[in-house]
Amino acid sequence: MKIISVVGARPNFMKIAPFIRAIEQYNESLKAHGQSTSGAGEVTPISNDQSPIHHLLVHTGQHYDDRMSKAFFEALNIPEADINLGVGSGSHAQQVGQTMIEFEKVLEKEKPDWVVVVGDVNATLACSVTARKQHIKVCHIEAGLRSRDMKMPEEINRLVTDRLADLLLTPDKLSSENLRDEGTPENNIVFVGNIMIDTLEANREKAEKLNIEDIILKNSLVPQASPFARVREGYALMTLHRPSNVDKQEVFEPIINFILEEVTTDMPLIWPIHPRSQKHLKEFGLWEKVSNHPGIILLHPIGYHEMLRLNMDARIMLTDSGGLQEECTILGTPCLTLRWNTERPITLREHGGASVLVGNNVARIRKEYTETLQLNRTPQRPNLWDGKTADRCVKALVGFKEEKG
Ligand code: UD1
Repeated sequence: MKIISVVGARPNFMKIAPFIRAIEQYNESLKAHGQSTSGAGEVTPISNDQSPIHHLLVHTGQHYDDRMSKAFFEALNIPEADINLGVGSGSHAQQVGQTMIEFEKVLEKEKPDWVVVVGDVNATLACSVTARKQHIKVCHIEAGLRSRDMKMPEEINRLVTDRLADLLLTPDKLSSENLRDEGTPENNIVFVGNIMIDTLEANREKAEKLNIEDIILKNSLVPQASPFARVREGYALMTLHRPSNVDKQEVFEPIINFILEEVTTDMPLIWPIHPRSQKHLKEFGLWEKVSNHPGIILLHPIGYHEMLRLNMDARIMLTDSGGLQEECTILGTPCLTLRWNTERPITLREHGGASVLVGNNVARIRKEYTETLQLNRTPQRPNLWDGKTADRCVKALVGFKEEKG
């Protein structure tokens, strides 16, 4: 069986790392189970569905900075991509269009049996459409998440990808239900758990050993007088990058003022800043006041282990990232999600998670911030968020039987 899997942007990398490792383990287990080896050294399959998996990794190049991409490949031991489409920045149409043009050439040459896409970024959409038009089967890891917010580019990516996919691997039962409600055939849905948590569990020990002061020193974006005494007493951690929060001054500025005037009086705030947010702070004339504020510790985008380490000790997380809501659930970090909705309801307090939706209205953020500070860290583990999801993904692919209609 030949599989091409696709990554494009930062949140894809932690999802593909365990999948690639599970493929390697599957191939090794086939060898170990007494397959004969031909003269050319190639593994001879016992039967059709027990042949080794030939895997190729394609990087669309949507995220291209070393800190947004290469650092994750290195930290998570992801083999270098076999093919890089070099798509880079651009409008959504440019990114999707360029990816489709380049990916079509790859499919014509490589003719895989499956294309595996993860998450909800532009690469996920572009590559599933291209594959289906060439009659190649598509598997979507992290299928069935729905925010019901059509203004979110990721929601459009999720809907289209799931409508096209042959095999939909879901992280939780709510996602499987969403797919059933949309009429996805039962045969195509498999509840496998959350593959991000495989990466978290595989890297927890390494992250625990990191020193927080070293992380700050190594990644500092602006030189600062030593902020460590206050950090030791507790800190807030923030990531913000969604267009709905950072692209409009009238939304972004009040959030910034709340952080500068209120959060930093309680504790310092560590902010590994996304390139999009940095660009907008500068455009809106807010950069000086943020970067000169003694209570804000601005960092470059940080590595996977570094983020995990900061998350482990944060008193509170403020974020609009989907992945961080999930990591806060497992680590128990009280989390304010600066969105009006989430495609990951399982991470919310009412479903047993650690996070609460606060949108981008400052009165609401303030109220929930004050209440959240009273909460203790309470780790939770939703069903099948057990670190073994990637194995279940490979098993689902190998065992997939097409329904002949
Ligand atoms: C993308 C994903 C989003 C994900 C986020 C995490 C889509 C639709 N969105 O959003 O789901 O949560 O990644 O990071 O795919 N830039 C750099 N260096 C880079 C990459 C981007 O400077 O390595 C700049 C570009 O100039 C660009 C801006 O950051 O204008 C935004 O990048 P883009 O790829 O458009 O989307 P993200 O906001 O990162």
